Amino acid sequence: MLTQQTYIMLKPDALKRQLLGEIITRIEKKGYQIVQAKLMQLDAPIIAEHYAHLTDQPFYPKLERYMLSGPVFGMVLEGEDVIRGMRNMMGPTNVFEAAPGTIRGDYATDVTYNLIHGSDTPETAEAEIKRFFG
Ligand code: PPS
Repeated sequence: MLTQQTYIMLKPDALKRQLLGEIITRIEKKGYQIVQAKLMQLDAPIIAEHYAHLTDQPFYPKLERYMLSGPVFGMVLEGEDVIRGMRNMMGPTNVFEAAPGTIRGDYATDVTYNLIHGSDTPETAEAEIKRFFG
């Protein structure tokens, strides 16, 4: 049994498209516990911190504009192997590779507007939970 926590962020397009309930329902049906959650309007410094490994990428200005474009819904989820489980449920970053049945595979058509972020390792999960929930 590997009970762990992950940071999941429903991005601005998830809220604008009113997909919050749909995505949260999938998470609850899977059996993960939502242990913290809040709506946040991010600012440029926290976006730059969160995507520090990407700030020199050509797509970063577009990513920043997108993440500033409206509120996000951040959550801490708990469950067995939840980091890997949520990455599987989300589908890959590149939505064109995301299989039907995954969140991105079912609802996203663009690599930037891809609805959801999830931590990729226990180390990033810990840092991201601290960043957004203190
Ligand atoms: S991943 O999936 O987190 O392992 O990949 P990573 O490279 O760390 O994160 C990429 C994040 O940048 C967003 N993004 C793009 N990636 C690739 N190409 C383009 N053009 C692009 N535009 C935006 C992508 O959605 C990933 O966001 P997160 O929130 O980490 O999923």
